[in-house]
Order: sequence, then C-alpha cells, then structure tokens
Amino acid sequence: MVKLLHSIRPARAGDARAIAAVHDAAWREAYSGIIPGKALESMINRRGPAWWTSAVRGGSRILVLEFDGKLVGYASLGRNRVSAIPYAGEIFELYLAPEFQGLGFGTRLFAAGRADLASKGYFSTIVWALADNERALRFYEKMGGVEVWRATERFDNDTRARVAFGFAAN
Ligand SMILES: CC(C)(COP(=O)(O)OP(=O)(O)OC[C@H]1O[C@@H](n2cnc3c(N)ncnc32)[C@H](O)[C@@H]1OP(=O)(O)O)[C@@H](O)C(=O)NCCC(=O)NCCS
Repeated sequence: MVKLLHSIRPARAGDARAIAAVHDAAWREAYSGIIPGKALESMINRRGPAWWTSAVRGGSRILVLEFDGKLVGYASLGRNRVSAIPYAGEIFELYLAPEFQGLGFGTRLFAAGRADLASKGYFSTIVWALADNERALRFYEKMGGVEVWRATERFDNDTRARVAFGFAAN
C-alpha cells in the first residue's frame, strides 16, 4: 500500500458539491454496464449538491477523505437497515473518485467508518454490494468480510443481485 498524506473527517454542508462530484464520477465508472443506463442516470441526477446538503444537515453520518486538500472519497454509515440480519451497523456507501482508487484510500476510509460505528456502539457491521461489482466484492473480502445475505434490487424493469458482507465485532 502506498503511503499518502490524507485526512478523514465528518462531512460539512459545504462539502456537498464535492461529494456530489465524487458520487457522480464513481457511480458512472463503477456501474456503467451493471445498472441499466436510464436507471443509473436518474439515480445520479437525484444525488446532486442539494441532496447532499440536506443529508448532512439532516444528521446523516458521512465521512469524507481528503487528499492534498481535495475531497476524493466519502463513506456514509449508520444502523443496519435490515433487522433480520444480526449485525449492528452498516456502511451504506463507500466511494472514491476513479483516479484515487487502488491507492489504499478505500481501506483507510473503511477502517475509519468501522471505528466511527464502533464509537457509537455498533461493533459489527454489514455492507451491501451489487453481485456484479467484482471489484467491490474483492475489496470487502480483503477487508475480512464474509457473505451473510443475498437479495435482489430492482432498477426500472430489471433486477440485479446484491450481496451483504458481514464484519464481526473486532
Ligand atoms: C471499492 C473501493 C471503495 C475500494 O477502495 P480502493 O482504495 O480502490 O481499494 P484499496 O486500494 O484500499 O484496496 C484494498 C484491497 O481491495 C482489493 N481491490 C481493490 N481494488 C481492486 C480491483 N480493482 N480488483 C480487485 N481487487 C481490488 C485488493 O484486494 C486490495 O488489496 P491489495 O492492494 O493488497 O491488492 C474503490 O475502488 C471504489 O470506490 N470503487 C468504485 C465504487 C465501489 O464499487 N464502491 C463500493 C460500493 S459497494
């Protein structure tokens, strides 16, 4: 892993534009060819700066990773949304701008997300990934996750498989 100077901190409302830009670029790059095009565009368009401003102001827990003063990644986290799965916390989203992937930042943001959840008493965690998102599957396996659940997600008239990775309490 390359050693690079970076910092991770909670998002502020003023980060909304930069988070939306990372979201847009990362989703386009990760999901083109996986999520049907029209559904992907409308998901990206919904998540502009206004959406992120209200997420931050509304109290959503979002961590951002900065490199050289530039916001290049984010993670959102909270309580596990599926009570049937016996894990306390959830990392809802973890995305890096495409040009900052593969440098170890995902590992750091993931660790920061888990530490943040643990500080609120959520010691075990799940993360969902689309089954076709091979890179994410390899990443979560490398982080020590094990597959604990499968479900499907609907995109317009199509469905795609989703996999939940579980991370036991450290
Ligand atoms: C998935 C993601 C968060 C991983 O972050 P990252 O900074 O790129 O990953 P790291 O550099 O920390 O890599 C950690 C490990 O993950 C695995 N990994 C990362 N990228 C990979 C790739 N392209 N192919 C296969 N394995 C990969 C490797 O095991 C790697 O360990 P190694 O470097 O010792 O080989 C990032 O690539 C990303 O934002 N991808 C696009 C969006 C996405 O899919 N997010 C997850 C949604 S559920």
